[in-house]
Amino acid sequence: MADDTSKKSTPPGWYAGGLKHIWLPYAQMKTATPPLPVVRTHGSRIVLADGRELIDGIASWWTACHGYNHPHIRQAVERQLADMPHVMFGGLAHEQPLMLAKRLAVLLPGDLNRVFFSDSGSVAVEVAMKMAMQYWINRGVKARHQFIAFKGGYHGDTTGAMAVSDGEDGMHALFAGLLPQHVIVDLPDDEASEAALDKLLTQRAGDIAGIIVEPLVQGAGGMKFHDAAVLKHLRALADKYDVLLIFDEIFTGFGRTGTNFACEAAQVIPDIITLSKALTGGTLGFAATVASRKVFDAFWSDDPKKALMHGPSYMANALACAAANASLDLFEREPRLQQVATISAALVLGLEPCRALRGVKDVRVMGAIGVVEMERIDNLDALRARFVEEGVFIRPFGNVIYLTPAFTIAADELKALTDAVMKVVADN
Ligand SMILES: Cc1ncc(COP(=O)(O)O)c(C=O)c1O
Repeated sequence: MADDTSKKSTPPGWYAGGLKHIWLPYAQMKTATPPLPVVRTHGSRIVLADGRELIDGIASWWTACHGYNHPHIRQAVERQLADMPHVMFGGLAHEQPLMLAKRLAVLLPGDLNRVFFSDSGSVAVEVAMKMAMQYWINRGVKARHQFIAFKGGYHGDTTGAMAVSDGEDGMHALFAGLLPQHVIVDLPDDEASEAALDKLLTQRAGDIAGIIVEPLVQGAGGMKFHDAAVLKHLRALADKYDVLLIFDEIFTGFGRTGTNFACEAAQVIPDIITLSKALTGGTLGFAATVASRKVFDAFWSDDPKKALMHGPSYMANALACAAANASLDLFEREPRLQQVATISAALVLGLEPCRALRGVKDVRVMGAIGVVEMERIDNLDALRARFVEEGVFIRPFGNVIYLTPAFTIAADELKALTDAVMKVVADN
């Protein structure tokens, strides 16, 4: 169990000296609560410099799906490190990315079978957008350069990805009106929004390269869930108006919603899919944009101008590919989806009682995602600190408290997380 949380000591020397040169993520540097110094991770635990051990409720932005420091991934990366940490992917090919591409093509539904590797989720989205725009250019249609995306959506922090994220309520609201203009509308989850999207496409399909959506769960935009029917409807509209359908599975991919990919649960095959986060089991930054045959065929030509002009320096990094292949081994060898189902049931059991507490607006669970949505959270920093006092690492944002634990979390650790949520919300 979590160690005594009252233990406090002076931070290590590297902390104060380095912190003043660091720019932290999503933080007003002047007022931000200083981050907790971490010295080690293992399983579902984060070990702090003062010896405290926190049970991790987030798995490092839901990347570490097998828990931290999984020996199988560690050994694969160590082996690869000894042979070749990295070699450029222009003009050279090597085993790990080729093996990984083949495995992803087999795992993904339909003919999503052409894999472009990059470094992070946001870049994978940029690549997907670029592919979609060039798909049309290569077919002789230059006017289709806009995207339809959805309110509550989040696709990353680079400017292209920001422009298809919710620009009004999202974290990039400051840039509203300053980014390339796309069409951000309500998800078609009822008759009125379905009709509105249909009408929009009747009028605007000629401008639209594609529709981009986070299937089943809008993550960083508020952990909002929708039904498979929404995705089926989007597929039907994309076919009717001949626009590409892009699924951003950077959050949902690799078991998080209960199936390998959310598109599988929805039985909808997109034209392009983006993957990252749990792709390397939380070990190294890495991403893939996977195109269907139809998309790839639009680039297949004797004309060099029809080539996809993209190639990150660290494309197909050998260490990241080794980690990703090892992560896929674990999905094959260990009962991950069964573990997700068990976690799901425990999240329902542990979080549902929160519904009766003051200030709670909604409680919802899908796969290994548990959400307690509050009417509002006045002081996020104070709430985050309360969780640390309870011996857990849980990081609410906006008005949601959420859990996205490792799939390997022990039952008592998961109970400690849901108990902490219940206790802190009750005390709130
Ligand atoms: C659905 C989705 N797309 C894209 C991203 C961006 O990924 P990254 O942070 O690796 O750039 C995220 C990150 O949370 C995400 O959840």
